Amino acid sequence: MLERFFSRGEIRRITKSIITLPTLPTVVARMLEMLDNPRTSAAQLGRLISGDQVLTAKVLKLANSAFYAFPQPISTVSLAVVVLGFDVMKDLVIGVSVIESFSKEADEYFDVVRFWEHSIGCGVAARMLARRHGYRVSGEAFTAGLLHDLGKLVMREHLRAEFLEVLEKVQQGGTFLEAEQELLGVTHAEIGAWLAERWNFPAVLQEAILCHHEPGGAKREPMLSAVVHFADVVCKHMGVGFSGDTVKPVLDDGVYEVLSPKLTEEGEVDMEFYVSELRGEMERAEGFVNTILKGSTPK
Ligand SMILES: [Fe+2]
Ligand SMILES: [Fe+2]
Repeated sequence: MLERFFSRGEIRRITKSIITLPTLPTVVARMLEMLDNPRTSAAQLGRLISGDQVLTAKVLKLANSAFYAFPQPISTVSLAVVVLGFDVMKDLVIGVSVIESFSKEADEYFDVVRFWEHSIGCGVAARMLARRHGYRVSGEAFTAGLLHDLGKLVMREHLRAEFLEVLEKVQQGGTFLEAEQELLGVTHAEIGAWLAERWNFPAVLQEAILCHHEPGGAKREPMLSAVVHFADVVCKHMGVGFSGDTVKPVLDDGVYEVLSPKLTEEGEVDMEFYVSELRGEMERAEGFVNTILKGSTPK
């Protein structure tokens, strides 16, 4: 059965050859370059983003959503850069561009809308956990949470036979990750990280995607990987969206040391507490979720 599939090296090559779509890598690559230059102004960055209409419309809609709770209307991208800050804008553009790069069309095998619900839920949860546990860049945590399962979309669109085989195996029990390891010897975490590297995403984001199931492996920014892993676990316990299996995962031991999560009297992670916190956050993020998933033009 195995010989029907691509080898690990071939999967890596296929992933790295995905150049894709209008907003990626041009606008994002250019933007990441500009943000590395301390002399870049909000107006320059605004002009770059404004060159892409779909991106502009989404960025403005998101900037005006309750998620960022800014009291005045934000009518231009330059103003959005000023009020939200360079870092939040960077994370927003990366997130929106990636979502635009993949099909949002559901099929009989995989409900991609529910997949994005899971991903956005993880983004919201990661931002919440970052704030609660003192990770300094909560916007970065949001994007890392949003994109942690990116590799699954690569598989769905570019490694179709492998993806369907993994889903079929999951039907018989076990997790998506276990099925990948058994059938392919490569996981969506690695595939997602390869693509993030190919697209020149920030190194900490590449690492968080790679380590989201094994946060203990993160060396550069262990806290970010721990936050994303924790967010994924909380979302699965709450049942936010669907990401390939319905197994409720346990929290990796590494998270305890890095984040010191709130525990129950029995010394377990207080999952009920985190689920109820996330429920409140998700309500506030509802407009944001709808904007990401639906309409590309502002109303
Ligand atoms: Fe995952
Ligand atoms: Fe996930």
